[in-house]
Amino acid sequence: MERRKLFSLGAAGAAAVGTGFAAGQLVQVSPAVADGNDAANPVRFYGKHQSGIATPAQDRLHFTAFDVITSDRDELIGLLKDWTEAAARMCDGDFAGPGGAVGGNYDSPPQDTGEAQGLPASGLTVTVGFGPSLFDKDGEDRFGIGDRRPELLEELPLFRRDDIDPKISGGDICVQACANDPQVAVHAVRNLARIGFGKVSIRWSQLGFGRTASTSSTQSTPRNLMGFKDGTANLKAEETKELKKHLWVGAKDGPEWMAGGSYLVTRKIRMQVETWDRTSLSEQETIFGRDKSEGAPLTGSKEFDEPDFKAKADDELVIGTVAHVRLAHPSQHGGARMLRRGYSFVDGSDELGHLDAGLFFIAYQRDPSKAFIPVQKALADNDVLNEYIKHVSSGIFACPAGVEGPEDYWGRALFE
Ligand code: HEM
Repeated sequence: MERRKLFSLGAAGAAAVGTGFAAGQLVQVSPAVADGNDAANPVRFYGKHQSGIATPAQDRLHFTAFDVITSDRDELIGLLKDWTEAAARMCDGDFAGPGGAVGGNYDSPPQDTGEAQGLPASGLTVTVGFGPSLFDKDGEDRFGIGDRRPELLEELPLFRRDDIDPKISGGDICVQACANDPQVAVHAVRNLARIGFGKVSIRWSQLGFGRTASTSSTQSTPRNLMGFKDGTANLKAEETKELKKHLWVGAKDGPEWMAGGSYLVTRKIRMQVETWDRTSLSEQETIFGRDKSEGAPLTGSKEFDEPDFKAKADDELVIGTVAHVRLAHPSQHGGARMLRRGYSFVDGSDELGHLDAGLFFIAYQRDPSKAFIPVQKALADNDVLNEYIKHVSSGIFACPAGVEGPEDYWGRALFE
């Protein structure tokens, strides 16, 4: 396949919008894209780290977990190569597919499903992760990689109040496609599923809208479906030192193939929005420990004021002992932080006429045993928010380092 030809469009596109990608640079988007307003600029696919993690969160999500149905190692490697090539092409805004405008050969199916033709790249990022079951499925090491499974890639423990549905949890490989146009995100997943026909099958998938986190200080903080600003104290792309400390797996952390990668935790959290909407404003604000309008901690007046967990009024702590921001705060967990990158979802309504709505929580971190797991344990045990939410799906994935260039592919170091 002529890779050069495939990527030429993207380079031209980049030049046209004046972004000029330098080798090794990770994020190449304008502030407008960062806030989800500029549909045209592509986000660079190649780099030291996968895009879609510390790159500015887009507005739409199509997350999919695949089960690998072949047990042929070479077939799996071949699929990862084909997927990488297709993802690089799509992230560059080339939606025509190899061979030009959707196929070109009338005797065989088109090489691209076609519904994104004519659309701009829309900030598309495609990020891949490997689940524990890729390394060990019911005691079977199907691909000869069992001894390369990271120690930290353990199925998550069951937390208090968990109501996890295994049918929408786990998976051998996950694909997170984010874009500012839902059609572009869905097209990306659909084409990877098409390419993977006979080798992988979709286990579950989730659509999301309205990013519930900002991952760059160029972005404004969005609101979640409870109406609160979400992402204020999140790890941000500009905090390079903090990203190194809390987000990216280090060269010495092990295993070697995970260096430059990150661990992804997903939780589908259903919200009882109807009950929440009948809860008083002061109760809502007490639950989070922040005010609803500005997003400021209850001890401050501006969104980015640091919360003062010692402050008292009338002898009572202003931010209570079970407020969400106190329970989740790094000071309670040995300084641990994570990069949240979740999305809202509304999957229609249930049989009672309630919105099937909530937060598809996504968090990346260097070490889930120090970040997500202890934080979620504290929240599951104490958070008053639990009266309004239910965790219904769970996943953990090891996302390898970025793809360095056209000759590289997702997970190469794992299979070498
Ligand atoms: C902070 C909402 C679940 C971890 C916040 C904030 C809101 C919020 C409004 C304050 C603004 C901000 O700093 O982002 C929610 C909702 C959830 C949920 C509605 C469920 C439906 C979780 C879960 C975790 C988590 C499952 C991790 C286990 C955090 C962290 C912070 C935070 C680490 C920042 C605390 C700080 O440093 O001040 N969340 N959250 N949240 N949340 Fe959640």
